Amino acid sequence: MKFFIDTASLADIQEAYDLGIIDGVTTNPSLMAKESISGDDAVIAHYAKIADIVDGDVSAEVISTDFEGMKAEAEKLAEIAPNIVVKIPMIREGVKALSWCYRNGIRTNCTLVFSAAQAMLAAKAGATYVSPFIGRIDDINWNGMDLIAEIAEVYAVQGFETEILAASIRNSRHIVEAAKAGADVVTCPLSSYEGLFKHPLTDIGLEKFLADHKKANS
Ligand code: E4P
Repeated sequence: MKFFIDTASLADIQEAYDLGIIDGVTTNPSLMAKESISGDDAVIAHYAKIADIVDGDVSAEVISTDFEGMKAEAEKLAEIAPNIVVKIPMIREGVKALSWCYRNGIRTNCTLVFSAAQAMLAAKAGATYVSPFIGRIDDINWNGMDLIAEIAEVYAVQGFETEILAASIRNSRHIVEAAKAGADVVTCPLSSYEGLFKHPLTDIGLEKFLADHKKANS
């Protein structure tokens, strides 16, 4: 399973990349705003910097909601670097844009997916990735992980090639559950990956090893 980092923070991307566990990056307009990136030129320059740090795919999201606008943005974003993937929302015009991108060799990530039915549409339209939002489903007291399992089943039975990118992942347990449910990729903030390191028995064990070593060598 691939690990993507869900942020527009260059410091977090560099830190995750230095750890050697990161295969790509996802961003969204909220994450760009959080880093105070605004204006077309600044946005393009920021995506170029991210695409330069990582070798893997970098999702850059369109902000238009009509087909012509999304098409124009997709062309512009795809020109930034070969590892840019255009992120397009799961709306009717978005599906048209996904299909157009597929026919024109632009790779895409279909975002804001909340049902297996929407995931099928994304696959039919030729999306490279589909992004079901796990945490936001959990937020309304449904089970986000059930959706990953359902999409994985449908895609396997039907032979769809779109990769399942489990998004809106909020903690390290989500990462493990998404892996079990059949996600091809997870995307989450650095803090969720940091949770993977932690186990109290590791800390206790290391403390004991070091104490015994000290005793034997004093
Ligand atoms: C992924 O592509 C989304 O940008 C992201 O995972 C959304 O996460 P959130 O629900 O924590 O905002």
